[in-house]
Amino acid sequence: MTDPTPERLTPAQFRTHFPITCTKTYLASCSQGALSDALAAALTTFQSTLLEHGNPWEHWIVEVERSRAAFAELIGATPAEIAIVSCASEGAFQAASGQDWTRRPGLVTTDLEFPSLAHVWLAQRARGAEVRFAGAHNGFADLPGYTKLIDSSCSLVSVPLHAYAHGQRLPVEEITETAHRHGARVLVDAYQGLGVTAVDVRELDCDYLVAGALKYLLGVPGIAFLYVRAGLPHPVDPLLTGWFGQRDTFAFTPHDLTFGPGAKRFQSGSPPVLAAYGAHAGLSMLARTDPAERQAHVAALVTHLYESLRDAGEHLASPADPAARGPQVALRDHDPAALAAFLATRGVMTSPRGSLLRIACHYYTSTEDIVTLLDALAGYRRCKPQPSANRLTATS
Ligand SMILES: Cc1ncc(COP(=O)(O)O)c(C=O)c1O
Repeated sequence: MTDPTPERLTPAQFRTHFPITCTKTYLASCSQGALSDALAAALTTFQSTLLEHGNPWEHWIVEVERSRAAFAELIGATPAEIAIVSCASEGAFQAASGQDWTRRPGLVTTDLEFPSLAHVWLAQRARGAEVRFAGAHNGFADLPGYTKLIDSSCSLVSVPLHAYAHGQRLPVEEITETAHRHGARVLVDAYQGLGVTAVDVRELDCDYLVAGALKYLLGVPGIAFLYVRAGLPHPVDPLLTGWFGQRDTFAFTPHDLTFGPGAKRFQSGSPPVLAAYGAHAGLSMLARTDPAERQAHVAALVTHLYESLRDAGEHLASPADPAARGPQVALRDHDPAALAAFLATRGVMTSPRGSLLRIACHYYTSTEDIVTLLDALAGYRRCKPQPSANRLTATS
């Protein structure tokens, strides 16, 4: 018997699973994904396992493995290529700790890196790394900016899939091709888009990919996933380890240190079980949709949003080229926190960052959400007109 055709939810059907969309205009997925009914149920299930069984590790480990398998499926990897970590920074640290900086000190990153990952890279200087930042020109990173820094002294090149500040889709594939030509490895931070932007690690051809569950993956804080390409040799053993990173987790041999196979070597202590329940619930929601439809739905909304804001005279930080955009549009404002607070009084949830207000879409976002945001923003501008463009800072 063949498998039944998998269920494919439309955006409207998907939206019914997110109760906050009934009461709010939720445009803050770049910060935290909306709570689904599946996620709420999963968190309750975790509590029930405690009430019913006390210490049900056998149930919990099953759920942890389900979250690993679901993440692997989302990015076209195998479960053995996925390490479960507590946050993206920990994943980045583990990838960095596997490099031999004394042999090849170069570590290339970008001005658009999420600060926490950049901090991990900078801390590698204590182990001999030489950190180089590909500059952002007019606010955007590009291939030449990376290319001129990548040479045969590089161990690692770090590329965000989308810039956290304004959503720019970086030319990951081209940068990866350049890095590999010089014998360097590539880490992709896919946090700002994975779940909306379709990703296949075989197509990206990256060596590592990291993402946490709480934004577009529709989970909760406390868990992230580190993809490590199968067969990638690691000249240096991880500095952070523990029993879940060992070949035999339950050997109980304090005198032996034998790292696990594949990505397992990058895990440390007890996994984040509650967050794994949440991650699995979020990933299961995504699995009920078609990746290409998710991306196309959000791209159409983002185009509508970008063009409407531009036509309204807003100063936009996101790319003008639709192909270079992500799931969010960022606009410049002299006080984004005050603007976000005003919008919140109108039931519109957004995400201020520095000099920018980020407005993010997901598969549950509707055209009506965009209209509501535009109306609320127009009301704000009537009361508090923007200062001239040259008084708005040019960077985020
Ligand atoms: C691109 C990106 N990477 C990483 C993070 C977070 O890193 P961590 O999981 O270490 O807190 C964020 C935001 O929270 C982000 O936007």
